[in-house]
Amino acid sequence: MAFLPVASALMSDLPAPASPADSSPDHDLFDKIVNLSKRRGIAFQSADIYGGFRSTYDYGPVGVLLLRNVKDAWWRSMVQMRHDVVGLDAAILGPPQVWEASGHLANFTDPLVDCTNCQARHRLDKLDDPNVCPTCGKTGTFTEPRDFNLMFKTQAGPVAGAGADCYLRPETAQGMFVNFMNVVNSSRKKPPFGIAQIGKSFRNEITPGNFVFRTREFEQMEMEFFVPPAEADEWYRYWCQERFQWYLDHGMPENLLRLRPHAADELSHYSSGTSDVEFLFPWGWDELEGIANRGNYDLTQHQSHSGQSLEYYDQAANERYLPHVIEPAAGATRTAFAFLIAAYNEVEVKGETRTVLRLHHRIAPYKVAVLPLSKKPELTGPCLEMLRAIQPHFMCDYDETQSIGKRYARQDEIGTPYCVTFDFDSVEDRAVTVRERDTMEQERIPIEGLVRYLQEKMQ
Ligand code: GAP
Repeated sequence: MAFLPVASALMSDLPAPASPADSSPDHDLFDKIVNLSKRRGIAFQSADIYGGFRSTYDYGPVGVLLLRNVKDAWWRSMVQMRHDVVGLDAAILGPPQVWEASGHLANFTDPLVDCTNCQARHRLDKLDDPNVCPTCGKTGTFTEPRDFNLMFKTQAGPVAGAGADCYLRPETAQGMFVNFMNVVNSSRKKPPFGIAQIGKSFRNEITPGNFVFRTREFEQMEMEFFVPPAEADEWYRYWCQERFQWYLDHGMPENLLRLRPHAADELSHYSSGTSDVEFLFPWGWDELEGIANRGNYDLTQHQSHSGQSLEYYDQAANERYLPHVIEPAAGATRTAFAFLIAAYNEVEVKGETRTVLRLHHRIAPYKVAVLPLSKKPELTGPCLEMLRAIQPHFMCDYDETQSIGKRYARQDEIGTPYCVTFDFDSVEDRAVTVRERDTMEQERIPIEGLVRYLQEKMQ
């Protein structure tokens, strides 16, 4: 299968790709991002004080804003800015019937092998050499592969037993399929239209890793777009293009992205066509998002297992049909991580190497940092008053510790696009100094026009 940087037969109407970036692994960059994340409150190992709980992460004061901004940017373009997509927030716990119908009970498995020499467990399909254990280096020590189901099973209510079994959802998608008729009947939407959802999903991954790239608990941003069967191919191409453009529009450099159509033997059990948006992670190209043409597989399955008709009645044509579905499915946590990697820069300032996260303003955790030049109350008093006037418009940080240079550096490190310094003159002239992160240029702006000035800069 050819790896296509951006343009493919599908994408022929997109601009020509930038030259592909060097794809050799950059372990140094990976370590720097992980260290920055811990140091600046982006993501912490979960249950850190107990030695950590493997493969789960807690998002800190900066990380929670970053993740929220990724989700808000997705929701804005997928729901708010469209007339043909509505939202949903479905339950995380689901009964076995849903997962039997969707095929997850039978098919959502990975091939697991154990090394009889060192007892390490591996996913067979992810090994460089299926005969060599990457942990101990021995050859021919693997057990026969076993299919390991990735769903977390639990029980609802105090009495164990078959009737109490339920599962944590491994994808948000099924919530949209089982609610298809509820949404049609309550919203009066007709195909082509979509249902979008953001939320937690859970997979008992055999080999989680690479920081927040593959975890057992993560967040997804998925949209199921229901279309008349004859329009499925056209909408599949449309969504491949739209989703690729979304990353570019939010500041991802084109040479770190590519669209890769799946080969036939790679397709999921439900898919008749899938393309992945891939990002150049520090270990090489890997998946950010999959755009799949799921046909009418899911609605057919739920219709036959539930006994409820899920056919759409097209009044104008006087016909009933099961819509086909195009699904753009992205990981919110994985996308936030990719934004961090893409934004990471180091600059020399007065002989010192500093980190700057050049995040798009919509993704940046804080939009504005408000910095009084001194901790003296005659400055902090009016400065806090100014902060209160800006806060309804922007997520702001406030910092009055250490020198102004150190404070600028701290804001650069978490990607804050604008710093506003309130100095001794500000009390008299009612103006402040606005410093721009990427150019480091400074401008004197009247406090009265500050919100409008910043809004124009961050349109
Ligand atoms: N409904 C289709 C579906 O779930 P998927 O490719 O399995 O498709 C979609 O998942 C996206 O969810 C992936 O592209 C990835 O960004 C994210 N994702 C999947 N498993 C993940 C994990 N274990 N940790 C973090 N993100 C994950």
